[in-house]
Amino acid sequence: MNEYDYIVVGSGIGGLYTALLAREQGSVLVITKGSIDDCNTKYAQGGIAAAIGKDDSTQLHIQDTINAGAGLSNEETVNILAKEASARIADLVYFRVPFDTIDGEIALTMEAAHSVPRVLHAGGDATGEQIESALSKKVRDSGIQVLENFLATEILVEKRKVAGIKAIDRRTGTEEEFQCRFLILATGGAGQLFKYNTNSDVATGDGIALAFNAGAEITDMEFFQFHPTALRMPGVPPFLISEAVRGEGGMLRNAEGLRFMFNYHEKEDLAPRDIVARSILNEMKKAGSDRVYLDVTHLPPHTITTRFPQIYRFCLDRGLDITKAQIPVAPAAHYMIGGVRTNSWGETNIMGLFAAGEVACTGVHGANRLASNSLLEAIVFSRRIIERTKNKVKEKVAKEENIKDIQVSLSQRPIPKILPTPGLAVLQQLHWDKAGIIRDKDGLNQAAGILAGWQNALPRPTDQPSYELHNLILTGRLLTEAACIREESRGAHFRSDFPQNVPKWKCHIVWQK
Ligand code: SIN
Repeated sequence: MNEYDYIVVGSGIGGLYTALLAREQGSVLVITKGSIDDCNTKYAQGGIAAAIGKDDSTQLHIQDTINAGAGLSNEETVNILAKEASARIADLVYFRVPFDTIDGEIALTMEAAHSVPRVLHAGGDATGEQIESALSKKVRDSGIQVLENFLATEILVEKRKVAGIKAIDRRTGTEEEFQCRFLILATGGAGQLFKYNTNSDVATGDGIALAFNAGAEITDMEFFQFHPTALRMPGVPPFLISEAVRGEGGMLRNAEGLRFMFNYHEKEDLAPRDIVARSILNEMKKAGSDRVYLDVTHLPPHTITTRFPQIYRFCLDRGLDITKAQIPVAPAAHYMIGGVRTNSWGETNIMGLFAAGEVACTGVHGANRLASNSLLEAIVFSRRIIERTKNKVKEKVAKEENIKDIQVSLSQRPIPKILPTPGLAVLQQLHWDKAGIIRDKDGLNQAAGILAGWQNALPRPTDQPSYELHNLILTGRLLTEAACIREESRGAHFRSDFPQNVPKWKCHIVWQK
């Protein structure tokens, strides 16, 4: 009864797109812990990158991606990403994603660290929502079986090969087993590690914990990208204010109303994300304020309301008319760059286990993700997963990268004598304070010690909140331990005690149980 060719865990862009392609090859089950639309994809605003503009080229996209990646991008997967981009955009158009157009041509916007406007968008700033709703409609219409409210709890592995997955029905608490030939993790990221984040509530590191516990390799976890501009208003969740707002002319101002980014980088407001985030923190610290401001009041009101309808409406509903007043913003955790390590076919080190989207680490982002490359990564490598399974290739794919690995495993740590009571709010504050935008050895050691203590102290999980807490603790432990090991600053990982980039750290930290 419960046997499938493919089981996909997660229902964001990676999960739904994979499911639609897998359906051509065999039976498919999608398991998702909330409703089909609960995912991070829906929150993506800016868009999806592809070198389709007349002043652009695949080579330039490759170069920008590698430059952003600060020495750790996998050149093979970056090449694949950029080369296959336009064909995958055509697939989305076929699936009826309504990309915005100008005079009949797909409209392209600018985002930080891109050399040219390269970012496609839909519904103005509702790109993720438009993609999600087009794909979820297609999945529903195609009759693919979707189990909503099922939380995956354990990957079943027999003789080093995937056999299936266990999941609990959130409504009844009963556990079920599902068998499959191919299991695709598309569970998204782990933004809920941090007090301030732009992610959905479902982003709790579930796929990292499932894969790690099954024996998969997890890599690059120290690289977590912080978005410079999330709305910072008392009592309001940190809603994303897209980088495209700066791409269209929005300007950052400090508490005194002065522009400041030219003091930090030649590209000013469109400097790389990590630099903008740290510059904002510095301005906030100097002014003793918890925010800076993003000013779009000089843009025509019609441009704001049509180009950024979601942001405009969200702010207006909270009493802020952004055509007239500056937007209070501060950085927030945004994207998990590391993840379950895959090769260029989305394949992990466990036969039959694949990962797609934010949970995967294909190596394209290196140490710092180029904006709007992640929706693209999800569809490019999802298709390759299906190609790989279709051809039923049995042999392992050689590792093409020439960047060396440091293989590590979690070991015992001194546990602090006084351990705070484990809970989501404490965990989020801990990561924000000790493993956030600026880190150091003492803070990281403290955080890792507490997380290790919680791992020892907590009873076995039984329901969704307890599973999610366990998953966040394990994911946070891998992140903080890796950040502790990496004694340098590179890309999204900044250590105040090791502020320089160090050539010997041009390597991946790879976890395995
Ligand atoms: C944004 O709209 O600023 C987010 C784009 C991204 O993170 O890729």
